[in-house]
Amino acid sequence: MLQIVPSIFAADFTRLGEQIRCVEDAGVTQIHVDIMDGHFVPNFTMGTPITESIRRVTNVQLDHHLMIEDPDTYAPIFIKAGADCISVHYEVCRNLDRTLHMIQDEGAKAGVVINPATPTSLLENVLDIVDFVLVMSVNPGYGGQQFIPNALNKVRHLARTRVERKLDFAIEIDGGVGPENIADIARAGVDWAVAGSSVFHAADPARAVREMRQAAEEALSVKV
Ligand code: DX5
Ligand code: ZN
Repeated sequence: MLQIVPSIFAADFTRLGEQIRCVEDAGVTQIHVDIMDGHFVPNFTMGTPITESIRRVTNVQLDHHLMIEDPDTYAPIFIKAGADCISVHYEVCRNLDRTLHMIQDEGAKAGVVINPATPTSLLENVLDIVDFVLVMSVNPGYGGQQFIPNALNKVRHLARTRVERKLDFAIEIDGGVGPENIADIARAGVDWAVAGSSVFHAADPARAVREMRQAAEEALSVKV
């Protein structure tokens, strides 16, 4: 069943604990943490003090999306700070197989992320290693961007490959996810749908999570 994964990038940082409790009340089991270094993407976000602070207030899985040039140095540091899942961009990893194994050896789930211009075919040789694949449905760096529909073709391809090769990685999507596209996202085969602005910019974030989850469940229960 599809999980809504709120991205705290869009949260109000002056009351982060409260915002996290609010989505926890809506049954969220995972929170997305965007780490940007101002090099791989033209923006900065948070460092390990934020991870440590969130870790103290919640037991949900902390999914760290590293939009950084040097994941080999920083992945272990974020894992020590409390990250449960780490995803690294295909576009920056020269030794992707080694990086993914390192993340797992450090005790976290390892994911690979692909940008909108990166094809899924390049992941063929790591699909049996990864715990999850993150398909970007916007160019990374900012919240509130428009969903790029081709991401769903990539998700369908990954979902088919997973069946054909009898693998069990999760499929995550990130960027421009909201009530208007959540049904299509669920039908394409996504397991984890990251949602930033559509959750934390809503008047009631818990309600936004519940409504999207319900729309996804309905989409999956209707046979076409
Ligand atoms: C964008 C980040 C996303 C961001 C999504 O680079 O990776 O996780 O928070 O924000 P929305 O859901 O607003 O597109
Ligand atoms: Zn992200």
